[in-house]
Order: sequence, then structure tokens, then C-alpha cells
Amino acid sequence: MEHKGSFYITTPIYYPSDKLHIGHTYCTVATDAFARYKRLCGYDVMFLTGTDEHGQKIETKAREAGITPKEFVDRIVEGERGVKDLWKLMNISNDRFIRTTDDYHVSAVQRIFKKMYDNGDIYKGKYVGKYCTPCESFWTETQLVDGKCPDCGREVVDAEEEAYFFRLSKYADRVQDLLENTDFLEPRSRVNEMVNNFIKPGLEDLCVSRTSFSWGIPVDFDPGHVVYVWVDALTNYITALGYENDRYDEYGEYWPGVNIVGKEIVRFHSIIWPAMLMSLGEPLPKKVFGHGWLLLDGGKMSKSKGNVVDPYILAEMFGVDALRFFLLRTFPFGSDGNFSNELLIQTINTDLANDLGNLVSRTTAMVEKYFSGALPEGCKSCAVPTEADGELLSMASALRGKYEAEMDAYAPHKALEEVFKVIQRANKYIDENAPWALAKDMDANGPRLAHVLYNLLEATRICGILLTPFMPESMDKLFTQIGACEACRTWDSAAVWDSRSETSPVTKGDSLFPRIDLDKALEELDAAQEAARKAGLPDIELEPQLTEKVDFDTFCKSDFRVVKVKACEAVKKSEKLLKFTLDDGTGTDRQILSGIHKWYEPEDLIGKTLVAIVNLPPRKMMGQESNGMIISAVHTEKGEEVLHLLMVDDSIPAGAKLC
Ligand code: ME8
Repeated sequence: MEHKGSFYITTPIYYPSDKLHIGHTYCTVATDAFARYKRLCGYDVMFLTGTDEHGQKIETKAREAGITPKEFVDRIVEGERGVKDLWKLMNISNDRFIRTTDDYHVSAVQRIFKKMYDNGDIYKGKYVGKYCTPCESFWTETQLVDGKCPDCGREVVDAEEEAYFFRLSKYADRVQDLLENTDFLEPRSRVNEMVNNFIKPGLEDLCVSRTSFSWGIPVDFDPGHVVYVWVDALTNYITALGYENDRYDEYGEYWPGVNIVGKEIVRFHSIIWPAMLMSLGEPLPKKVFGHGWLLLDGGKMSKSKGNVVDPYILAEMFGVDALRFFLLRTFPFGSDGNFSNELLIQTINTDLANDLGNLVSRTTAMVEKYFSGALPEGCKSCAVPTEADGELLSMASALRGKYEAEMDAYAPHKALEEVFKVIQRANKYIDENAPWALAKDMDANGPRLAHVLYNLLEATRICGILLTPFMPESMDKLFTQIGACEACRTWDSAAVWDSRSETSPVTKGDSLFPRIDLDKALEELDAAQEAARKAGLPDIELEPQLTEKVDFDTFCKSDFRVVKVKACEAVKKSEKLLKFTLDDGTGTDRQILSGIHKWYEPEDLIGKTLVAIVNLPPRKMMGQESNGMIISAVHTEKGEEVLHLLMVDDSIPAGAKLC
């Protein structure tokens, strides 16, 4: 195959502050489809993804979890069902994975920072302004919207510190020219947004170092400062190729590349990133494409809103390829789209089970039934081609060109639409030719029937090639079923009708995409999601788990009392249970059993003043009755649960009510 040169494409590097969700999966699957498409075309592709591991948010989360930031990100990136696992599951073909905590990246960022300092584009000053902690963004008063962060709408805090600044203002005109007069940023609609909202009001110099936290890359010539997380993160696209480091040596080969990013980070990629590269004297990205968001009930998915969709559950229930396909077929890549489970199932049923699945299963079944699994020689040609033959042939032959134009325009949904027009035409072709009727008189109609089936196999083969970047595994199976050899699975052969050998064997294998029962699947999904919620997230308490709300009256029914420990002993044959004899102020001893032996020895608790809920129904544990529950505080430290009994001042009398 002709070698077309090199092609470099990247996803954003995601924050490993939480497990990734379907929104991250959407971007990575799209980028994977572009990478696979370019490989199919004959490009030498480098596909990079990774994780953005520094910053205050991660430092804070790790502290809450009682582990170091590095331990925290290691679990989310490398751990079970972590970032790398997710990409493996989704069959992502990335050639490289960068973590911003990788040594080579850290030292390269220090060199890059120094380079910009030495050339006068970074200088030391004082930062006074507002800071949005969740977004890790500094804002000026004028940039705030209603006094809140313009990106996420949350509260900002006052911030003042000595800091380094990048002369972003110096590059304003060049960046504006780049945005307005080239195709650097797409879709085009994002250009106006950037120019009007950010450049025209005046680009201010950017604060690029922090002293208020330490989880970042230190400025090596001024300890105490760490590099602003966005400067650290953006440079990943070049350090991963070997820029300013000797871990890799592919910068010359692959840079500049294409950066695929979500619309909310277009500002960083289309203003700050090119300005940094201008300062470094390096080539600018070939393109920044800002895709839209997957919305849930009209709003953005976010872990803190508790409305994220778990890609693991969907992939396990419906298959990886079906999920990949759905994401790219349904939502126009440059715009927002509303995700729903119903839509997912309907798309699988309509496009994959009905249209594609039926085409393949009907065609292969007929080749088996009427020709014992192999068409006869001579079936490529037909004495009197019909109008329908011509239409199918011309549509299938023109498909590759249309598909290529859409893929090159980063419009995978439109490329898929073209493919499905041909699939639908092929299904209609079956009905028009009624092979089952032709088969009634094989002597008279055998050659025509063979030609009809050959045409169907050819149309299916061409569509199969073009669907490979979207559903690689399923298309492998499809090629086996329709008897497409290696040579007729290639990009070149997708433009050549008649590539498939006439007699190669056809087998009706398992159905590629079984039909899904909508109601049953929705019910199963609900159950799976509920089970996942109950199981919580493994290992790390990522966020305090908020429970269901109770109304005030219900809350008031709970009777919490101060109790004094009169006696306490371990329950025989139980590793966990302690038996308490308590003074609850009623004059009658109260017995409560509590599973806290792991944290407390019974003798240490005698005489302590504790809190218990006393109006729970009695419960038997290890044959003994327990009347209530002693209250404690629980948290996780270094992955282990830690419990503290709630002890109150001894001067409070037994029986005092908590309210
Ligand atoms: O912003 N719909 O990381 P991040 C579609 N570390 N795409 C979504 C999405 C949704 N609901 N939610 C997330 C960061 N994404 C930085 C990037 S790059 C130098 C640094 C996708 O973990 C989308 O591509 O917040 C978005 O831009 C990205 O995930 C943000 O991931």
C-alpha cells in the first residue's frame, strides 16, 4: 500500500480525580476511530492519550482519601477498572499513554518553562484576583459572570500570590489572526466565541505558577513555585514525542498533530497553547477540534452532580462495538447531544440488528442455502444488468469518496450516514430481486441469483471496510462470514467493486448484533446501575457518599441519648462484637452489641460517655439481644476503614437527649 506520511492525533489528557465516564469515552472512541481510519488509509499514525495528574484538586482529593497524590492517581490510572483498563475494554488503539507524573515529562516541562523565561516571555510578578478551585483557573474581576467562575458557575475565592506570568498579551494579534484566517480551530462556530469572548475584551498575561499548593512540577530555578497545571498539561502533546527529553525521538516525525478536545477546553487549546508554541518557536497544531458534550437530561454529566453514565455497564450489556458505534453514529461530533439508554438501544436495534445485521445474515444464509456456501464462477457478470444493479454498484463505488470527505472533516456521524445509505439500499435490493423467488427455478435463474448475491456481498464488504474504524472486532467477524480475504479488506479495495473473489466460501455465523428487548434491557440496566451505586466505588472513597434525604419529622423520630458504659466485654466466638451494658438514664440497664472490636479493647471503654440511638427495634446477634446502636464516625485512611466512637463530655448526664 502507498505510504501516505505520518499523522499524529491526541485526546485531552483526562484528570484522574475520579473514574472516567461516558463523556470521556465518547472523546476517546472518536479519536480512536480517526486514528484507525488514518491507519486504514495508509498513514503512519501516532495516537496519544493520557492523564493530567497534577493540581490542587487532586492534592485535595488525595488528602481526603488519606493517601498521597501519587498513590491516588496510580489507583485511578492503573487500578482495576481504572483509566487504562477502560481504554483496553473499549478497544482503544493508542500508541502511547502519557502520565504527567512521568519523569521525562516533568523534566521536559521544567526545561520548557525555563526556555520561555529565558526568552523573556515568562516574568515574575504578583497575582491578585479570583481563583476557581474546581477548574484550577484564575480569573480577573471582569471575567467573572455574576461574580462566579465563567466556566463552571461556581464560587471563586480571593487569591494573591507572587507568581510567574506568561506574556499572553504579546501574542493576542497573532492568535486572533490564526483563529480568524485559517482552519486551525473547528468547528468554525467556536472561532467567534473565542475571539469575541476572550481575545477582543483584551488578553491579559497568564499566571503560570502557583505557591499555594505543592502537587505540581516545581519551577526548578525558583523552588516553592509549581508550574500552572495547564502549562504542564498542554505540553504533553509534544513531550510525549520527545520534545526537550530523550525518552522519545519522534518529535520531528509526528509534530504538528491534531488535538481533539471537548468544547469547554477549547479556550486553553486555541489561545494559550498556540501562544506557548509561538513563544517556543515551534510549529502550531494542524488543528484543534472542539467536540460537543454528551448531556443527560439536558445538563452536563458530572461526578459531583451524580448523573454520570458508567461505560463499563453499557459495554458489558450491549457490547463494546455497539457502544462505540452508537456514540459516533448518533451525536453530531461538533455539537451537544442528549444521551439516553433508550436511544442507545433503539440505535442498536435499528442500524445494527435490523439494517446491517439482517443484510449480512440474509445474504450469507442464502449463499449457504442456494449455493452450499460458495457462489459459482462467473457470478460477477450478468447478461442483462438491471437498473437496481447499476444503482447499488454506483452507490457502493462512490461511498469511499464521500466517507473520506466526511472523516477528513471530523464528521464521523456523517460518514456513518453515508455507509448506512448503502446498507439500506442493499436491503432494498434484496426485496427488489426476491432471491427466494428466483431460487424456485435454479436452472433458469441460477446465474442471476448468484449475481444478485455477489452484488450483495460486494456492497457489504465495502461497507464493512469503512465500518472497521468504528467496530473493529465485529467487522473482522463480518469479513469471515462474507468470505472477504485480507486483500479485499483494504482501503484501496474499498474503491474497487468486484474485488472479492467469486467463489470464496461464505458462512452464516452467529448473529453479529442480536436484537435487544427494550423494556427488559432498560430494567436490567436500572438494576445494574443500582447495584453499582450500592457497591460504591472500589478502593477509594472518591466523594463523601450522600444518602437519600429524610424529612424533618422522620429525622425527629430517631431518639439519640447520651449513655455511660457500665460494663463492656467481648462476645464469645465473635471476632468483632463487643457487648455493652449501658446506663441510659432510665434506671434500667440497656444492652447493646457493637461490631467495633477491631478498633477498641473492651476494658478501655468502661466509664466512657457515648451516644446511642435507643429506639431501634431489638435485634439478635450471636444469640444475644441488642437494643439500639452506638454511634461512631467512620472514614477511610490508606484504603482502610477507620472507626471512632463518638465520645462526649463526661459532665453530660446519662439519658440526655440529642436534638
Ligand atoms: O479537562 N461529553 O480533563 P477532564 C463529552 N485535564 N465529552 C466529555 C464530557 C461529556 N459530558 N465530559 C468529559 C481536562 N468529556 C484536562 C485536559 S488536556 C491538555 C487537559 C471529555 O478529565 C471532553 O473531551 O475534565 C473534555 O474536554 C474532556 O473529557 C475533559 O476531561
